[in-house]
Parts: sequence; structure tokens; C-alpha cells
Amino acid sequence: MNLRDYTSLLAELRAAYAARSPRSAALNEQAQRVLVDGGSHTLRLTQPFPPRIAAAHGAWVTDEDGHKLLDFWQGHLANILGHNPEVVTAALSQALADGMGLQTGFTERYQVEAAELLCARTGAERVRFTTSGTLATMYAILLARAFTGRDMVLKVGGGWHGAQPWALKGIGYDRAEGYQHIETAGLPSAVCEEVVVSRFNDPEMLRDHFGQWGDRAACFIVEPFMGAGGFMPATREYIQTARELATQYGAALIFDEVIAGFRFRAGDVGALYGVRPDLATFGKIIGGGMPVAAVAGRADIMNLAGRAGGSRVKFSGGTYSGHPASMLATKTILRYLVEHEADIYPRLAALGERARAILEDAFAQEGFYARCTGGGNDALPGSSVFMLHFPHEEGHPLDAPDDVFDPAVCDVALNGDVLQLALLLEDVHVTHGHGAVSTAHTGEDLAFLDAACRNVARRLKEARG
Ligand SMILES: Cc1ncc(COP(=O)(O)O)c(C=O)c1O
Repeated sequence: MNLRDYTSLLAELRAAYAARSPRSAALNEQAQRVLVDGGSHTLRLTQPFPPRIAAAHGAWVTDEDGHKLLDFWQGHLANILGHNPEVVTAALSQALADGMGLQTGFTERYQVEAAELLCARTGAERVRFTTSGTLATMYAILLARAFTGRDMVLKVGGGWHGAQPWALKGIGYDRAEGYQHIETAGLPSAVCEEVVVSRFNDPEMLRDHFGQWGDRAACFIVEPFMGAGGFMPATREYIQTARELATQYGAALIFDEVIAGFRFRAGDVGALYGVRPDLATFGKIIGGGMPVAAVAGRADIMNLAGRAGGSRVKFSGGTYSGHPASMLATKTILRYLVEHEADIYPRLAALGERARAILEDAFAQEGFYARCTGGGNDALPGSSVFMLHFPHEEGHPLDAPDDVFDPAVCDVALNGDVLQLALLLEDVHVTHGHGAVSTAHTGEDLAFLDAACRNVARRLKEARG
């Protein structure tokens, strides 16, 4: 293993970045006095300080220092049509002009229409909206535990389902513990023991785990397309095995489609595997830029949250659940994606493939072996996402999170802060090597990415000497 030291390169990049961004720097100082680390989402608080964004449109954002940044992070992967798509902003502006209540505390028709679209496109029988993917996965697990009367939760290493109690084990790769690591202080110890972590895309391990704990398992929660854990599609065999085992052992199968839902087609991705989960969670794209998430699935499980099920599960909603403006955005984007499905998804797939090729080639040109995950497979068609990796050796399979986050396999330090800062200096924004194209990205934008990556690769080469 060749663990490189990027200390001096990072210092050089940070100094160059600080010099060109005085307003973001000043805002950061101000922010540090009142916000933990200067903001409200750890991932966004890059060092030495994040660019503070003043405006956003399509594929680009503008920071407080006036830099126009080509953005591949796209609203934390929510903006499939780019920033501020007119179809959504126009609907919101019109509705507000017509007197729509921003937050009424009542219920209205938009969420009915949004739920109809969501059910029609995912095969779910019932849906309930909430305000974040984190809450959605927490409620889905609560429902599964109540439905089965069991405690244990099976998940996969690297699977990120938000920071909620049953999802805080086995997220980040830990050199000593692999994916058995507890990610936070303060968790009840019972929760830690109730969560069993297995390896993504490893049907044999899943079989073993069900064999060992199946009659105590409330659910298996998995992303059919692994998001933060490495942007990898599950194999057909893996998803089919998951379905069979969950059915055999009487556990609920939960697909977490917070990233994948409506990203590969105007609907769920479970359908592309020919597999229906018992429950699914959605978020990001379905909000059209507003904070919306959903739990959707079998009526007999979902109804535990309602009168028909004796309201046994306290998935009763929060102040902003079913927020009218958010529900209007959801209904609007879902309808748009359904109506334009035939144009949008092939275009995204082509742009995504081009982006992945650009990233790999630009670094290869300067002698860096780079590989992108994010492509589809025989179940998932082309994909709009990418995650760049620098494996130490050619030919290593990149099928599971531990393949890409183990520093013994990939140069993890390089596609962290180093790459992000070096690209920001070229006016390109990706987060830790990963991102997505939107329909707002053009061929010209990808040429801009190409030039930026080449400059970064040259800079890295010079730094290595
Ligand atoms: C697969 C998956 N599930 C759940 C979540 C949590 O969603 P949110 O950030 O909206 O709480 C995320 C967030 O990135 C996610 O990627």
C-alpha cells in the first residue's frame, strides 16, 4: 500500500483558495461564532472554509466572491433538473401570487396529487410524507418493527440512511473495525446490538445473517443503488436474494431510494430489478428542491400509522409535514419527470457516461489510474452519477463500499479534500469525488469539466514531482 502524504499540497491549495475568496472567508469567521463549525451540515463545511453561495441557476452557482462554479453536487443530489428549474419555481410563484398559504397547518390537494403520482410510479399502496430522508428511514424501520413484533435491523456496511438511531452503525469504513463501527456517541446500547451489518452485494453473507438472526429480524434496509457508500448498483442476484430471504424469514424488505428514486427512471428502481419491497423511502429529487421525503409501501404496514391500524406507530407527522409549497413542488416535479421521462433519462445517462469518461481519462493522461463508479448494470440503465476513485492497482473490483473506502485499496485521501479544493480552484464543484449531472448540464459544461480535470491532474503530477 502506498499512502501518500498530501500535507504540503493541501496547504498550497488552501492558501490559493483563501486568497481568492475573501468574502467567503469573512463570512466563515462570522459563522464560526454562532454555528457549530460555521454551518449546519458537516459534509458541506470544507476546509479551510466552504464557498458561500449567493445565487444558483441550472448547472451553475455563484459564490459571494463572484466565482461562477460549475456544480455537480446539485443540491445534495436533489436537483435532477439543475438549480431552480423553471417548472417548479413558476408553479410556486404563481401559487403564492394566487394566495397559497406557505405553511397553513391544514391539509390541501397538492399532497393528494403528489401521493397519487408516487403510488402510481412505485407500486406503493399508501404513502405518508415527511420532511427528510432521515425521518423517512426511521419511520420505515419503526413500522417494520411494529409490524413484525421484532427488534433486529439488518443493514449493509457503507449504507447511509441518515443520522437516526438504527442507521448509525457501519457507515464509514474503519480500518480496525471495518463496518462494525458505531458512528456516534450517545446511542442506546440496545440499538447498537440490534443492528446487524453485512456486506453490500454479498448474497452469501446475507444468507448467513438471515440464517443466524432471521427469526429476530424486523427488516433488511438496503439501497438498490448504493449512494454515499460508493455509487454502486446492487446486482440482480443480491436484490433477488434479499427479497427471497426477507419473505422466507418474515422480515420487511425496505428499499432506501432517497438517492435512487426518480433518478434512473420516473419511478422507483426496485421495479428495474423486478422486485417490490414491503416499504420504500424517497427524498431528494421528489421534493423538487423543497424538503420532502416519503415512506411508501404496503397498505397493511403503512396503516399501522393510521386509524385502520390503531395508530400503533407514531408516524403522525410534524409541523411541516405536507407543507403546501413543498407538496406543490413535489407534485410539479413528479408530473414533469413522468411526462418527460423518455427525454430526460436517456439524456442524463449519456451525460453521466461522458462525465465518468472525462474524469477517468483526464487523470489517466497524467499517469494517474482513476476509475469511476456510478454506472449502471444489467438491471439499472445508464446513470447520471459518478464517484471518482484512485485504486492503487488496476483491475480491483469496485463492487462494494469496502473496495473504495479502504485506503489499502484506493487513495482515499486524494479524492477527499485534495480533489475538491483543486477543482474549486478551477471553478468546478464536486463533493469528495462524487456528484451528478442534471438535465441543465450541457456538452460545453462537460468540456469545462474536462479542462478543469486536466489542470488538476497536471497540478497533482507536479506536486508528486
Ligand atoms: C440513501 C439515503 N437515505 C437517507 C438519507 C437521509 O436523507 P436526508 O439527508 O434528507 O435526511 C440520505 C441522504 O443523503 C441518503 O442518501
